[in-house]
Amino acid sequence: MTNVICFANNKGGSGKSTTCSNLASALGIMGKKILLIDGDMQMNLSLSFFDEDKVLECAGNKNNLYDAVTSGRNLSSYILHTDNDNIDIIVSSFLMSSIELELGPKKHREFILRKLLSAVKESGEYDYILIDAPPTLGIWVTDILCASDKVIIPVEATPWGLFGLANMFDFLKKIREISPETELLGVLITKVDERKNYYKQTRETLDSLDDIHVFKNIIHVDSAVEWAQDASKTVVTYKKSSRSAKEYTALAKEILRS
Ligand SMILES: Nc1ncnc2c1ncn2[C@@H]1O[C@H](COP(=O)(O)OP(=O)(O)OP(=O)(O)O)[C@@H](O)[C@H]1O
Ligand SMILES: [Mg+2]
Repeated sequence: MTNVICFANNKGGSGKSTTCSNLASALGIMGKKILLIDGDMQMNLSLSFFDEDKVLECAGNKNNLYDAVTSGRNLSSYILHTDNDNIDIIVSSFLMSSIELELGPKKHREFILRKLLSAVKESGEYDYILIDAPPTLGIWVTDILCASDKVIIPVEATPWGLFGLANMFDFLKKIREISPETELLGVLITKVDERKNYYKQTRETLDSLDDIHVFKNIIHVDSAVEWAQDASKTVVTYKKSSRSAKEYTALAKEILRS
């Protein structure tokens, strides 16, 4: 059965795109078939697998998620293969900036992505569909959450990383009223910097929350992540000996066990 997992947090820069791409890489190496969906107009997930020229070409030639959502055409025609045998992707577009306006007047607008995904999901072609959400909480993120079986919330280990998280939990609670299948898989602590002292504080605060699962594995700050992104690669494929590559692989194993 295909499992749909999205990466969401209204706090920008918390590691959503980096976690999504690297988890895909780690799961792909373990033999899982993955479809990635880049739901953010920043196109960072797309840029983790293709260079800028290719991503901009897709943004321009209608081979992107914006066209898929607004045209309602079969999603499979938008799927691109990546260099990794087990990872396919639907890339994003700058036009995603107006997706809220497009969806606004539509009937049952919160289930448009779920409906689009249903044929791909039922085909059983993929073990996982991973969706990268933008740092907002609007109609489009509602669509992403309603299309997902599970949600991972990456949280940066900084004082502001936790600020606003209550908002995210409240939003998810409201989503579950219209989409009871959507469950929180867990909160992932990211960008842990050992020179600063916020990890312990972040872990303690999160662990004190009732009914919130916090992943055992964490992701440290690692310059290899940015070197990999500069090369349009995930750190898991770019430098598998790096600390972060090992951490993403351990996280993938934790998720497979859950
Ligand atoms: N483990 C890490 N070590 C070093 N840098 C990291 C790490 N994880 C993420 N980053 C960097 O932090 C920044 C934010 O990460 P990322 O883009 O994944 O967050 P995001 O939540 O997707 O952001 P947005 O909300 O803008 O979509 C990026 O520049 C990324 O390269
Ligand atoms: Mg992002």
